[in-house]
Amino acid sequence: MLGKRDTRRPARLRCHLLLGGAFLLLLASSALSCPARCECSAQTKSVSCHRKRLPSIPEGVPIETRALDLSKNKLRLVTAYNFSSFLQLEDLDLSDNLISVVEPGCFHSNLALRSLNLRSNQLMLVAKGVLTGLTNLTHLDLSHNRLLVFISQRAFTGLLGIQSLTLERSNLTVVPTDALSHLHNLIELHMRFLSVSFLKPFSFKRLTRLRHLEMDFWPLLETLPPLSLHGLNLTTLLCLGGNPLVCDCRLLWLLSSHRPASLQILDIQPECSAPQHLLGKSLRDLKEPLVSRYMTCTKPRIGPNATQLLMADEGQPARLSCTVEGAPRPSVVWITPHRRYLNVGVQSVFFPFGVFCTNINVTVD
Ligand SMILES: *[C@@H]1O[C@H](CO)[C@@H](O)[C@H](O)[C@H]1NC(C)=O
Ligand SMILES: *[C@@H]1O[C@H](CO)[C@@H](O)[C@H](O)[C@H]1NC(C)=O
Ligand SMILES: *[C@@H]1O[C@H](CO)[C@@H](O)[C@H](O)[C@H]1NC(C)=O
Ligand SMILES: *[C@@H]1O[C@H](CO)[C@@H](O)[C@H](O)[C@H]1NC(C)=O
Ligand SMILES: *[C@@H]1O[C@H](CO)[C@@H](O)[C@H](O)[C@H]1NC(C)=O
Ligand SMILES: *[C@@H]1O[C@H](CO)[C@@H](O)[C@H](O)[C@H]1NC(C)=O
Repeated sequence: MLGKRDTRRPARLRCHLLLGGAFLLLLASSALSCPARCECSAQTKSVSCHRKRLPSIPEGVPIETRALDLSKNKLRLVTAYNFSSFLQLEDLDLSDNLISVVEPGCFHSNLALRSLNLRSNQLMLVAKGVLTGLTNLTHLDLSHNRLLVFISQRAFTGLLGIQSLTLERSNLTVVPTDALSHLHNLIELHMRFLSVSFLKPFSFKRLTRLRHLEMDFWPLLETLPPLSLHGLNLTTLLCLGGNPLVCDCRLLWLLSSHRPASLQILDIQPECSAPQHLLGKSLRDLKEPLVSRYMTCTKPRIGPNATQLLMADEGQPARLSCTVEGAPRPSVVWITPHRRYLNVGVQSVFFPFGVFCTNINVTVD
């Protein structure tokens, strides 16, 4: 192995020195320096080391490589030096590895990058500075990173070329609104299979070029607040199956007759998971009189036995319970006479039609 490396190094050096005129020599040296188990094409300047159990970038990748496929290997870490000699890299595939760390600055030399695939790794966060300077990047795939829970607010700063971003099947629990807002030229955003339970108003602010938004299969998403998609001009919004939408008054704005003109949605067919009478109905098919009869909300109402006398021994647990009705389903907090919030050990039992009970154990001091 060592012997092999030593013979290769001079070949690469020669190629540097003669780069000016010697095209033939360049081809020869590229062919020469194809890493042992990889496939190289001198013509397209591409190197493929797919599924080779590599723990790191192999020796001998020509520095003039434009497309590098390192998918399905055992890479774990990307530092600032790993890719620093590949100045012409346009297409980098690091998918299906074990990468848990990408250091800030790791792509600082790869300013020609157009496509970066980090799908199916073990990233936990995308820090500020990892993607800095990649103004030519158009496609970024961060999907299937099961541990990805955080994207820095400034992770995407300056990435004005990005047209397609994929975040699906990560562990994000909120839409990374501030990070996304830097992607002024984003056209497609793929965010299927996320555990996001609510959308804030203006969740996709400044994404005025966005045309295609996938946010289906969010098993915790019950509703889309009226201003959550504000500012978007979409042609496709996919939020089909898997979003357990509660078709109450909060979704009235999404019915075609109420929707703002700037939100052009063609492909929308979300289905209602509640109330019972609208179960399985697609939002598009909801017409009068169903709408005024069932797409309604009611104010929260605390059940008749709200005030109870409870005796408990000092230091012993006491059990409080109440019944609350309302649609959408109200949330309950308990407050002591001294205005202290009791939010430990709340046990909620949910029933259909927005009725639920909550029990807590308080320790009387
Ligand atoms: C990057 O370099 C570090 C330190 O030399 C090494 O541990 C790591 O495996 C390299 N990563 C890749 C993808 O080659
Ligand atoms: C970015 O893309 C433009 C247009 O394709 C190209 O002229 C420029 O050289 C690229 N930048 C780098 C650093 O390769
Ligand atoms: C990510 O999600 C998986 C389930 O898909 C879960 O088992 C895991 O604990 C989550 N990790 C974090 C850090 O939230
Ligand atoms: C929305 O996009 C369409 C093209 O898809 C365009 O014709 C229209 O002017 C845009 N509307 C706004 C408000 O930007
Ligand atoms: C309060 O009322 C509900 C139903 O009206 C009942 O199921 C529950 O047992 C009552 N709780 C107490 C502490 O009386
Ligand atoms: C309250 O205390 C009871 C009895 O000690 C226990 O079974 C129950 O799980 C507790 N509930 C909560 C919410 O801690």
